[in-house]
Amino acid sequence: MKILGTGSAFPKKTVTNDDLAQVMDTSDEWIRSRTGIERRHIAVEETTTSLAVEAARLAIDRAKVSVLDIDLIICATVSPDYIFPTLACEVQAAVGASRAAAFDIGAGCAGFLFALSTADAYFSTGKFHNALIIGAETLSKMMDWSDRSTCVLFGDGAGAAVVSAEGNQLLSMVQGSDGAGGMALKCNNRPVSNLYRQLGAQNYSYTEMDGSAVYKFAVRTVPMAVSEALEQAKTAVDDVALFILHQANRRIIEAVAKRLRQPLEKFAMNLQEYGNISAASVPALLDQVLREKRVKNGDRIVLAGFGAGLTWGACVLEMQVEE
Ligand code: COA
Repeated sequence: MKILGTGSAFPKKTVTNDDLAQVMDTSDEWIRSRTGIERRHIAVEETTTSLAVEAARLAIDRAKVSVLDIDLIICATVSPDYIFPTLACEVQAAVGASRAAAFDIGAGCAGFLFALSTADAYFSTGKFHNALIIGAETLSKMMDWSDRSTCVLFGDGAGAAVVSAEGNQLLSMVQGSDGAGGMALKCNNRPVSNLYRQLGAQNYSYTEMDGSAVYKFAVRTVPMAVSEALEQAKTAVDDVALFILHQANRRIIEAVAKRLRQPLEKFAMNLQEYGNISAASVPALLDQVLREKRVKNGDRIVLAGFGAGLTWGACVLEMQVEE
C-alpha cells in the first residue's frame, strides 16, 4: 500500500472555550487543563457529506489519480447524514468515482485505522487497486448541549487519503475490540417501534460517556497496540519519527508518551484547534503534518486510533514523500 494524497476539511465556524462558557456552566480553564482543547469547528452550513467531499477532492487532486481509477471508497463515520444510503455512496456520486465499490464502516474513533486495514485486505485480493478512504463526522449534532461533560470535547471535520495497492508503506497493522466495555461511550439509535410494538414519538438520542472509563481504556490499550504494531514492523520505538494518535485529549496523549518513554514533541497534536473529531482526527492530522512537511522520506510513523466500541487500531507506515 502507498499513500498517494491526503486532504482535510473543517466547518468555517469556530467556537472557543470562552464562547461555550457564555452559554453553559464551564470555563476555558476547566476544558483546557483537563483536555488541551481550546476551540472546535462546528458545522452550520456544512454536513458530514459536504466535509467528506471537500477532503476527498483535495486528496484526489494531490494524489494525481483519475477518479475513474478509484475502485474502492470506504468511509469511517458514526455521524452520516443518512442511515442509508451510505456516506461513501454520497461521496462517490459527488466526486464522480463511478467505477468504485463504496461502503461505510463504523468503528468509532478508530474508524480510519479500520478503513485503512480494510482497503489493504481488499488490495491483497488483487482485484482492487486505488482506494479513497475517509473519516468524516459532524458530532455536534449528536451532542446533548446541556451535558457539559461531553459536548465541550467534540467537534466536526473530515480527513481523506487516496491509497494505492502499489508500494510497501504499511509495515504492520494491529486492531482489536472490547464489546464488553462498549457502553462506556454510546449513542442510541431509534428503538424498535412498529405496528406491533408502539412506543409513540421518540426523542433523539445523544452521546453518553463514562469519561473516566474511556480514559482508563485509552491509556491502557493504546501503548499496548502501538508496541505490538512496532514489534510486528520490527521497528524500535526510538526509531519512530512521529506519532499520530487519535486526538481525544492531551492528557491521554501525554500518558501514552510517558508509557512509551518518548518525548511529547514526537506526538503531533491539533486537538487544541479541532477538539475530538472521532474518525476524522487521524487522517486530518496526517494531512496536516504532510502539508507542514514534518515527515521526511523514509520516516517511520505510527498512526493509532481508539474509541467507541470499544475499539482500537495502530499501524506503522514507512513514508514516501516528495522532498
Ligand atoms: N466544565 C466544568 N466542569 C465540568 C465540566 C465542564 N465542561 N464537565 C464536567 N464538569 C465537572 C463535573 O460535573 C464534575 O463535578 P463534581 O466533581 O462536582 O461532580 C467534575 O467536573 C469532574 O471533574 P473531574 O473528575 O476532575 O474530571 P476528569 O479529570 O475525570 O476529566 C474528562 C473529565 C471527561 C475530561 C476525562 O474523564 C476524560 O478525558 N476522559 C476521556 C474522554 C474521551 O476522550 N473520550 C473520547 C474518547 S474517543
